[in-house]
Amino acid sequence: MLGVTGGIAAYKSAILVRHLCNAGAEVQVVLTQGAAQFVTPVTLQALSGRPVRDDLWDPEAEAAMGHIELARWADLILVAPATAHFMAELAQGAAPDLLTTLCLASDAPVLLAPAMNQAMWRDAATQRNAATLAADGKRLIGPAEGEQACGDVGPGRMAEPEALLEAVQAAFLSPRLAALNVLVTAGPTREALDPVRFLSNHSSGKQGYAIAKAAAEAGARVTLVSGPCGLPAPANVECIEVTSALDMHEAVQARAAEQALVIGVAAVADYRPATQALQKIKKDSAGRGAAEPPAIALVENPDIIASVAALPNGPVVVGFAAETENALDNARRKRRRKGLDAIVVNDVSNPKIGFNSDHNAATLIWADGEVELAYQGKETLAASLIQHLANLFFPSSGEGAGAVAKPTPLSVARSGRS
Ligand SMILES: Cc1cc2nc3c(=O)[nH]c(=O)nc-3n(C[C@H](O)[C@H](O)[C@H](O)COP(=O)(O)O)c2cc1C
Repeated sequence: MLGVTGGIAAYKSAILVRHLCNAGAEVQVVLTQGAAQFVTPVTLQALSGRPVRDDLWDPEAEAAMGHIELARWADLILVAPATAHFMAELAQGAAPDLLTTLCLASDAPVLLAPAMNQAMWRDAATQRNAATLAADGKRLIGPAEGEQACGDVGPGRMAEPEALLEAVQAAFLSPRLAALNVLVTAGPTREALDPVRFLSNHSSGKQGYAIAKAAAEAGARVTLVSGPCGLPAPANVECIEVTSALDMHEAVQARAAEQALVIGVAAVADYRPATQALQKIKKDSAGRGAAEPPAIALVENPDIIASVAALPNGPVVVGFAAETENALDNARRKRRRKGLDAIVVNDVSNPKIGFNSDHNAATLIWADGEVELAYQGKETLAASLIQHLANLFFPSSGEGAGAVAKPTPLSVARSGRS
């Protein structure tokens, strides 16, 4: 449930609704009377696909105690922007309108994104209310500092919609893989021809790093085995840097037995040069004339993810498939051929997603179901994927360990157990 109150930042709530819907959430918008001065119900209804609620005294909705029904329906309540006035009401436990009543009547976690003039934020009453709300278990996100609509500069800007989406995702995810060992491979591999040249691919490592980060945020002990991609290791992740497919194979094999889950995101080279020249290959070396190009003989690399999947009593193994045609069919076959528990497929022929892009869209396929992970940022896709894997393969992990929300998937499975 997205509550919108009467601050100038209410115009950003339209973007927030879009982000939440793109991440697969069902969004019910609730407006205060003040919010309706800034953004129209029609806009938010069109974006969320659900009629906006704004009236506690709606006889039709309340025929069946609609506010209680809505309070029970919400898995999480985000109020963005949250005005000084709304925070004051909530801190008091006052319930003069629909949104405050819902917050009081719901057991769902409440996230607040305060947004107001810097002097209003710094006012002693607002600070007291913020402290009371935090002590009551409400989570405050922001406010951020910077230029304000009124021309002031200081704390009071609403956190950006992207940051709010991440906070929502994290609230659903945090404890789901608590204390499980998870290994993620990421990035490309480099297959040396000589001391200065190699064969490689366009993998940026971004998706693998985002998955390692999401798994760590979900409470797992994460090892990231990474090919060369120059990205900083995410917080709380042990990063092992490797270069070639053989290095990566060795690093993964050495750790596979102690993992609960292995996710192979790395774009591992299928082949490597059969020999590696000790010295730089010269244009005219080995009796060839400069006009005669050298032939490169290749040998097959070990299939890292398949060899983990073949381990007796091994971890749950999830592979990635970057396809350019017949993506779903090819991925279904690949999952079965390699003995994987699940596979994530993306169509890298689409220039909007995949290698080097910050966005991705994919389908997660397992033995008895499939779910689409809609076009979105690689970080939110990673968070959504980790949640699906937790639901599918570790359904009891982390329960009672401080979950802030019911573990409802943010995307709807087409079939299967999710
Ligand atoms: C143009 C305009 C902009 C406003 N912006 C904010 C704001 O950013 N934050 C805030 O706390 N109040 C702001 N207010 C004041 C609130 O709208 C007012 O306190 C109102 O009672 C809030 O009602 P609500 O919290 O029920 O939505 C603004 C008022 C006006 C007229």
